[in-house]
Amino acid sequence: MKIIMLGAPGAGKGTQAKKIAEKYQIPHISTGDIFRANIKAGTELGNKAKTYMDQGLLVPDELVVDLVVDRLAQEDCANGYVLDGFPRTIPQAESLDAALAKLGEKMEYAIDVNVPDENIVKRMGGRRACVGCGATYHIEFNPPKKEGTCDSCGENLILRDDDKPETVQKRLGVYHEQTQPLIDYYTNAGILKTVDGTVDMNDVFTSIVQILGE
Ligand code: AP5
Ligand code: MG
Repeated sequence: MKIIMLGAPGAGKGTQAKKIAEKYQIPHISTGDIFRANIKAGTELGNKAKTYMDQGLLVPDELVVDLVVDRLAQEDCANGYVLDGFPRTIPQAESLDAALAKLGEKMEYAIDVNVPDENIVKRMGGRRACVGCGATYHIEFNPPKKEGTCDSCGENLILRDDDKPETVQKRLGVYHEQTQPLIDYYTNAGILKTVDGTVDMNDVFTSIVQILGE
């Protein structure tokens, strides 16, 4: 099962991708999480990515595409994967399609988690992210059992540097300009499915399961 999660920053791509990965036993691949892990480890890739991420801008395609294509070649991806935050531009989508075509494969589902901009800014200030495993919480909608600590791995929860209101606005602008065109791209490919992302996160997941099957 090969799945792409589409949606604005804060739409709930990561939240739903984690649930999908668990239910269907496929890896959750988040380019944002990969960059944040590299930033934490102080790698060259992390240092480069951080300058873009902190401004709410996209990391250049050439730093992203090979990284994902290499990741998809790993053994645990043999039965599929859920991609979260990639592709994010038309050139990234084209590179992904080309890489899959070389293997005689095709993307199967592009799921758009639809949330209007007004809801997004409200959500981001309450988000807390785990520095260890990338799990995502919300102080109101999905609080951890113990404040500031990840339920799954016990690491600290942080407010992401790019979740400041002015950076969120910038990210939304970048989303509309560079990522939203992918909705048409995957509609034309015949694999776009849209779910309402404004409802409770468990109900969003129910809609996704209806699309993917039990
Ligand atoms: P990335 O980490 O992908 O961030 P993003 O797309 O901006 O999306 P978010 O992770 O902020 O939101 P989400 O949709 O995952 O929502 P979440 O589930 O956390 O990318 C960060 C940066 O990295 C980019 O800006 C860019 O610079 C760079 N980058 C990454 N990939 C790239 C690429 N391919 N090319 C170039 N650059 C790239 O949910 C948000 C909050 O809402 C949480 O607190 C959650 O608990 C809560 N929530 C979720 N669902 C619901 C619900 N139904 N009701 C109420 N609350 C909810
Ligand atoms: Mg995310």
